[in-house]
Amino acid sequence: MRLTILGGGGFRVPLVYGALLADRGAGRVTEVVLHDLDAGRLSAITRVLAEQAAGVPDAPAVRAVTDLDEALRGADFVFSAIRVGGLEGRAADERVALAQDVLGQETVGAGGIAYGLRTVPVAVDIARRVARLAPGAWVINFTNPAGLVTEAMSRHLGDRVIGICDSPVGLGRRIARVLGADPREAWIDYVGLNHLGWVRGLRVGGRDELPRLLADPALLGSFEEGRLFGAEWLRTLGAIPNEYLHYYYFNREAVDAYQRAGQTRGAFLRDQQARFYEELGDPHAPALDAWNRTRAEREATYMAENREAAGAGEREEDDLSGGYEKVALALMRAVARDERTTLILNVRNRGTLPELDSDAVVEVPCLVDANGAHPVSTGPLPGHAAGLVRSVKAVEREVLAAAASGSRAVAVKAFALHPLVDSVNVARRLVEEYTRVHPGLAYLG
Ligand code: G6P
Ligand code: MN
Repeated sequence: MRLTILGGGGFRVPLVYGALLADRGAGRVTEVVLHDLDAGRLSAITRVLAEQAAGVPDAPAVRAVTDLDEALRGADFVFSAIRVGGLEGRAADERVALAQDVLGQETVGAGGIAYGLRTVPVAVDIARRVARLAPGAWVINFTNPAGLVTEAMSRHLGDRVIGICDSPVGLGRRIARVLGADPREAWIDYVGLNHLGWVRGLRVGGRDELPRLLADPALLGSFEEGRLFGAEWLRTLGAIPNEYLHYYYFNREAVDAYQRAGQTRGAFLRDQQARFYEELGDPHAPALDAWNRTRAEREATYMAENREAAGAGEREEDDLSGGYEKVALALMRAVARDERTTLILNVRNRGTLPELDSDAVVEVPCLVDANGAHPVSTGPLPGHAAGLVRSVKAVEREVLAAAASGSRAVAVKAFALHPLVDSVNVARRLVEEYTRVHPGLAYLG
């Protein structure tokens, strides 16, 4: 079985390969094709993978290519994990928004819109090529903003593209742990859009345990989201939001904290990863060693500014290892081997959330089998959540429309309608600045 990874020179690829090495079951991936536009990054990551595979019998073969069509032909699974504009682009997304006193963040608010506008045309091109060259392949989209990008691709690939994120499963696991429940046995009632969802219940043996958590300030203070949002607000909401909702509920504090921070997250990662790839410019440098060191440093600082500002504290070590690669591998196994499982994924709505149309990509629990990911029906969202979901989805639709038409006015509309952008004039200035700094936005005229 062949897996193609787009963005194959990316820093997180060894996490995926590590998960593949641990998979000994029948029907596992035997061949990995790495695609990247940057040959230097590809060769650095290829060396890391070779060191990971040393001594592992039957390690999946690795091939690196820079031609996209060649990478796609014959693929059974495609992981799309690209970053259009690189980390320099992410840093600019963050910086430009903060300069206008609105949230500058990778996937949320103005920063997320800029990233989406840059990424959608590239993702659509990939989707079209997959449809032509590997029509039977399953595409697992890691590329952020994951919900929006998955929706763009689904217009060409239908339900053969599935978006993933590590945050819902991580949140569910933390809540289960606090409640003394086995995360594998708990049913997590998580609903929303990517980076915009809420855990509304956690059922074990037919009983909802979430009320017990919401009633207990000590339990609420014992995990990350509990500290991030505060017991009182969580009790008022009656749900545990995804950590990204912090940017909505405590927007002013988040913007302040980011403005005060010396460096944005994107700028930090840009510099850190530049050092890593540079270090591996020396063909004798131990690659896995350098990667491990860089990774430890990256995770120690994960969203640190925001967490510290909010008193959320450190993330537990356990959670750092249960990320994207595990969700992706679980999904791939379920599809390839018909091992039925449930996972929280980004898929087309198909009637699951009545407040959105059928083609809107939502993030909900899905039953996964050889036929793909089937969203499970859920109860309706409370009014406040439905309102937010609908307005953010409306913004996503404007981003898709701007990318399809190249209309600058529609791009302004996307920014202006976002709940975290507080003036049409700010939206205009954001479009001015973003089109000035991002070559990938030249299509907006
Ligand atoms: C979480 C989110 C991802 C996001 C990442 C950012 O894992 O689910 O979608 O890309 O955080 O982490 P970073 O280390 O790049 O700031
Ligand atoms: Mn995510």
